[in-house]
Amino acid sequence: MSRPVDRTNLPLPLVARGKVRDVYAVGDDRLLIVATDRISAFDVVLPQPIPHKGAVLTQLTAWWLTKIADITPNHLISADADVIVEEVPELADTREIWGRRSMLVHRATVVPIECVVRGYISGSAWAEYRKTGTLAGEKLPEGLRESQRLDPPIFSPATKAETGHDENITFDRMKEVVGAELAEELRRRSLAIYQRGRDIAADANIILADTKFEFGTLDDGTLVLIDEVLTPDSSRFWPKESYEVGRGQPSLDKQPVRDHLEALVAAGQWNKEPPAPDLPPEVVRATSERYLGVFRRLTDVALEDFPSSEPVSAARGAGT
Ligand SMILES: Nc1ncnc2c1ncn2[C@@H]1O[C@H](COP(=O)(O)OP(=O)(O)OP(=O)(O)O)[C@@H](O)[C@H]1O
Ligand SMILES: [Mg+2]
Repeated sequence: MSRPVDRTNLPLPLVARGKVRDVYAVGDDRLLIVATDRISAFDVVLPQPIPHKGAVLTQLTAWWLTKIADITPNHLISADADVIVEEVPELADTREIWGRRSMLVHRATVVPIECVVRGYISGSAWAEYRKTGTLAGEKLPEGLRESQRLDPPIFSPATKAETGHDENITFDRMKEVVGAELAEELRRRSLAIYQRGRDIAADANIILADTKFEFGTLDDGTLVLIDEVLTPDSSRFWPKESYEVGRGQPSLDKQPVRDHLEALVAAGQWNKEPPAPDLPPEVVRATSERYLGVFRRLTDVALEDFPSSEPVSAARGAGT
């Protein structure tokens, strides 16, 4: 088993180190996006990496992209280490570190909007609704309860904040930022991907409560889906078996971490400010199993067997 990776130093120019990803330039027009095993909760990165987390995020993104290829073009060139080494031979020696967790992608100019779609009301949307009865500034029906399903799903854009929390904005504001035509197209694609994702997740008894997409434009003007797609880090996944309207839901992936940290907060041992406390080994192990479990439940294939030479479960296909 390869060791967890919490920071990489690959022989390529480093473009950015996010909370989870190390991003490198490959020439002028491509990027290597490396999902490390770092985990964040309450917006702080925790000291212990979660084994397999990066590979789950990357391979799950690659899997979803095949399911939604008819809805939107995307940035992915390959998430297959053999192909990446062929394209970027200078990475051959460090393959142990980046293999499975990395995507070679077309570098895009990022549209500065987080394209959030919500099919259930939770998180910052629930907070807004409770306060003003609105979501993204639009009136919602009265009497909604926490975690209630929204039909149809709602597009609720946010601006990408350099630091701290993203800010929810109205669709009208989004039109001012990126132009009406692009705003409409991003909303159309985001809703279509979410609907497909919600249906596929439902087959696996997973509720895809909400998710966030990013888009960018390539040099030739093509609008492409970028970043991670429908992963546990960019989405709220709830186990269907414990879903109950009227309260917050446990997270399919990060719940062991959240429970541990909330217990420390309740005991007055942490105030949700950095530095984050250490995670005990059993919490790390349980969380790693959760991430692997999400992958298996969605794709019907264990991470170690993915991608398989067999076509992935025909029953879970995109339906087209
Ligand atoms: N094809 C692409 N071209 C250009 N930038 C991309 C592409 N795909 C993803 N990105 C950018 O790469 C970064 C991925 O890093 P990561 O997800 O760790 O950071 P983040 O989400 O911006 O910040 P954080 O996770 O720290 O809140 C994002 O800023 C994303 O916008
Ligand atoms: Mg990100």
